[in-house]
Amino acid sequence: MNIQLVNKNITDIKADVLIEFLTADELKAHEKFETLSQAGFKAEQDSLCFLHESGLLVCGVESKTGDNIRSVTALMIKTLKASNYTNSKISVINKDSVAGLVEGILLGGYEFNTYKSKPKEIKLQEIFLALNSLDFTEIETTFNEAIIIANATSFTRDIVNMAPQELHPESFAILAKTLADANNLECEILDEDALKTENMGAMLAVGRASIHQSQLIHLTYKPKNPKKIISLVGKGLTYDSGGLSLKVAASMVTMKMDKAGGCAVLGIMKAVSELKLDVEIHGFIGAVENMVGGDAYKPDDILIARSGTTIEVRNTDAEGRLVLADVLNYAQDKVKADYLFDFATLTGACVVAVGPFTTGVMGHSDELKNTLFKSASSAGELTATLPFNKHLKTFLKSEIADISNVSSKPYGGAITAGIFLDEFINKDMKDKWLHFDIAGSAYTETPWDCNVYGGTGAGVRMMSAYLKSLSL
Ligand code: BES
Ligand code: ZN
Ligand code: ZN
Repeated sequence: MNIQLVNKNITDIKADVLIEFLTADELKAHEKFETLSQAGFKAEQDSLCFLHESGLLVCGVESKTGDNIRSVTALMIKTLKASNYTNSKISVINKDSVAGLVEGILLGGYEFNTYKSKPKEIKLQEIFLALNSLDFTEIETTFNEAIIIANATSFTRDIVNMAPQELHPESFAILAKTLADANNLECEILDEDALKTENMGAMLAVGRASIHQSQLIHLTYKPKNPKKIISLVGKGLTYDSGGLSLKVAASMVTMKMDKAGGCAVLGIMKAVSELKLDVEIHGFIGAVENMVGGDAYKPDDILIARSGTTIEVRNTDAEGRLVLADVLNYAQDKVKADYLFDFATLTGACVVAVGPFTTGVMGHSDELKNTLFKSASSAGELTATLPFNKHLKTFLKSEIADISNVSSKPYGGAITAGIFLDEFINKDMKDKWLHFDIAGSAYTETPWDCNVYGGTGAGVRMMSAYLKSLSL
């Protein structure tokens, strides 16, 4: 399906269906909408009314903000795709609503059909966005950027949704290489031999029982005059069975999504390189599969991380932090970055704490947390900060090693995981690092906002907005 920006009045565009956004006040104020009221339509947010005879599809909005437009557009596009119409037209209200429209259409209309044997037939081919009297060049830039970001989000969703037998650590590395070739990125892959040379004892332990070799992927986007250097680290657990601390059957289903942090890093690199932002970006992904077997790492094992820190394993299902410990340490050694961000489906506790729609944000700098909160909000992503404190840190004490990989108490699990990661953040980076726990926000089994079943692409829109603000 194609979205086309048209520098014309809406009345001068021929299309099967006209899409209109309407508030309850507008509905009441205009007589021409009487049929809608008669039909029982109240123009409540996220309500739709399709008048087939007049080729009109009306979308209710509380007010015409980007968030509201995105939300109802995501519902509207599903209705339109299920119809027999081949094209439709929408008036662009203002510059601020352009991203909402594009995201509603592309992300709300996103489908993952790779594993369906019979392709679905969709008649809808074209959506025209009429500019009426708005300035074309100004809107065009916003529109093109929104398309790039939405496509990068869909790319992230596509790889999160891939089955674990197809997307495993080695194929993850190949996928990264393919993206690098297509988008002119540098790409370095460390296989298990290289990880051994790097003394990555924590990351290697997690992947030991897998038939697939763990891989550390390092992608670089280097523009000519970068304003800042940013390192992004992603948890890329292509499957998390829990290991010997095996998950119960019901909790294991969906654990292909434990690679969503790594997939977000790839999506962000794709967006940034296509937006041609003036920021140097390094993406590091720890691609590992957490499995069971005779060779599996065990509760009671002591691991030596790349940093030299010794870790007592008390639960093999707290594997993400072990992988991140080594990848974060490696990333800081390799690149002197202005900021370091990690993305990880790290804890079920984060979902309990902030709910399934919101990303948990942790770190030391309130200023950085505030900045990222604003970028996320402007991009339509939900975040909430979870505060570190010294008392929770005591829960990670180990009697026989430097640190335990799990908390001794069943409270504050998202924060104790964040505090564990903090152990591997160098002193000079403390205020320049943030940890994003996307355990809830990265995947959904019920549609919400512009998200549909499966990977959501959490992190991509938020980071693209932030990195864009750095490159201005
Ligand atoms: N990948 C999971 C976290 C997760 C849970 C992500 C639910 C998405 C949805 C992580 O590796 C894990 O298993 N964490 C454990 C930690 C515990 C053993 C301390 C958890 O959350 O139960
Ligand atoms: Zn786990
Ligand atoms: Zn995990």
